Amino acid sequence: MLNMIVLASGRGSNLVAIQEAIDRGELTGQIRAVISNKKDAGALAFASESGIPALWINPKEADGRQGYERRLLGAVEEIGSDCLVLAGYMLLLGSEFIQGYGKPILNIHPALLPAFPGGSAQKDALEYGVKYSGCTVHFVDEGMDTGPIIAQTPVPVLDSDDEAALAARILAEEHKLYAKVLSWLAQGRISRQGRKVMIRSDEQ
Ligand code: GRF
Repeated sequence: MLNMIVLASGRGSNLVAIQEAIDRGELTGQIRAVISNKKDAGALAFASESGIPALWINPKEADGRQGYERRLLGAVEEIGSDCLVLAGYMLLLGSEFIQGYGKPILNIHPALLPAFPGGSAQKDALEYGVKYSGCTVHFVDEGMDTGPIIAQTPVPVLDSDDEAALAARILAEEHKLYAKVLSWLAQGRISRQGRKVMIRSDEQ
């Protein structure tokens, strides 16, 4: 049973997809809480409606980034979890937080990293003219979308694509990939040597 805390700043479609994978029995886990820096995040509304503890930590009430992360770490430690799942969480996490937490922190990004990190990945991919973009699930380090890559799904870029169309097709793959990676984590199949992440096949 994988105990997850989801950090999210936005609409929360990845959060919903993870909860649905749990409900379908594809992921043996539990979302212990959803924490957001945004009071009006759709992710918090979904959590409240679903009976999942929903916590807003207001950055304005914290003493800078470090103060915020100390509050976040305190909340996370009180709730208890095996991993943190970043799903559209728009703040960078510092090394004090990452080391203080000491357990896996995962993120999903809407591009094939290391291409197009940052907050406008689908637009950047489209403007660059790549023929494939996609999504990446990776461990979180101090950098912006720079942590070791766990899994990726390519998505073809079509001549007819605008940003919304490409983002929607990538998002559909994000929902599948994140739940799959979390099920590997729940099964203890993910190992890591430096930047290289290995997935043990389920036949072993
Ligand atoms: C997703 O595209 C994710 O890859 C990125 O932020 C977006 C979050 O979407 N990090 P949602 O809130 O899960 O719908």
